[in-house]
Amino acid sequence: MVRTVIRGVGGYVPERVVTNKDLEKLMDTSDEWIRERTGIQERRWVTTQQNHELGLEASRVALSRAGIGPQDVDLILYATLSMEYTFPGSGVLLQDKLGCRTIGALDIRNQCSGFLYGLAVADGMIRSGLYRNVLLVGSEVHSTRIDLSTLGRDVAVLFGDGAGAVVLGPGEDDSKGLLSVHLHCEGKHHDLLWIEGHGSLFPHAEQVRVIQERRHLPQMDGRQVFVHAVRRMPEVLQEALQANGLSIQDIDLLLPHQANLRINQKVAATLGIPESKVVNNIQKYGNTTAATIPLCLWNALDEGRVHDGSLLAMVAFGSGFTWASALYRW
Ligand SMILES: CC(C)(COP(=O)(O)OP(=O)(O)OC[C@H]1O[C@@H](n2cnc3c(N)ncnc32)[C@H](O)[C@@H]1OP(=O)(O)O)[C@@H](O)C(=O)NCCC(=O)NCCS
Repeated sequence: MVRTVIRGVGGYVPERVVTNKDLEKLMDTSDEWIRERTGIQERRWVTTQQNHELGLEASRVALSRAGIGPQDVDLILYATLSMEYTFPGSGVLLQDKLGCRTIGALDIRNQCSGFLYGLAVADGMIRSGLYRNVLLVGSEVHSTRIDLSTLGRDVAVLFGDGAGAVVLGPGEDDSKGLLSVHLHCEGKHHDLLWIEGHGSLFPHAEQVRVIQERRHLPQMDGRQVFVHAVRRMPEVLQEALQANGLSIQDIDLLLPHQANLRINQKVAATLGIPESKVVNNIQKYGNTTAATIPLCLWNALDEGRVHDGSLLAMVAFGSGFTWASALYRW
């Protein structure tokens, strides 16, 4: 059986560090409130870079670690919720800048679960023999679309910019690689975490009113996100373990989405996973949405936490609501 393997991983965050103290100058918030409620100490925000330019940096690293060039890429999958334009998507911009052939580029719109949704798409295409080298990117520029006044503080303090990328392809044997991906959604909660005012429901004549009513900005019910996340993330991880005949004790490293450090602590405690096995980077990057899981993987590799044969468990929850898990044998 052919399994999808990760051939190279890359990550990139903008140079500009924005601390909680910096945010205190912009809005009525405090370093203490942000640290205690979320675990975030600082995040990276772009100055002028665009979404696909972050993706480009991460992709270059991933390609070089995979030992291939842009011309070898057969398909781009680009997970983001903060694309430059409503259309076209960021994937085509990356194809151009990276210097790929006129291959396909597919944007994935599943927010915090976007990387794992992309992983499922890549896995199907690779295992069916359709493509050999798939470049999967998760990239976000949140900082240009958040309200930096006190009115927007509940959202503004959470998000950071960044990108992660992996090169995926068919493995040599079935003992290593992607074991499974499990995807879910519950669309009745679509309005608990969303940007309402950009879509076709709003005729252009109403755009001024939409902006006056602040419906063009991200809105969330943080409490509800929290409650659902701490239920769904353990549930979908258990589903993955059961499908593969594995148990919690088999997990070597948990790479969870980074919405809130307290969510991840609760998920780990619910499952009985020690904190030493959990990769968190929210403290320095904030919530980077689709970029989070590949950035966690990139950090874990650089820190020497991933070994031959390690069982990696990835899990995400976010807008939609969508949630997903993946198990990977390194
Ligand atoms: C966002 C989150 C940290 C808020 O924590 P919380 O304990 O639920 O806080 P609340 O929203 O109830 O707000 C508590 C108070 O803090 C205030 N507050 C909100 N944001 C603040 C900020 N950045 N700084 C200071 N005070 C803030 C609120 O106005 C509220 O004040 P009030 O009691 O006077 O009304 C938490 O709900 C969370 O992490 N949710 C999940 C994360 C998430 O939604 N991620 C989105 C992507 S997946």
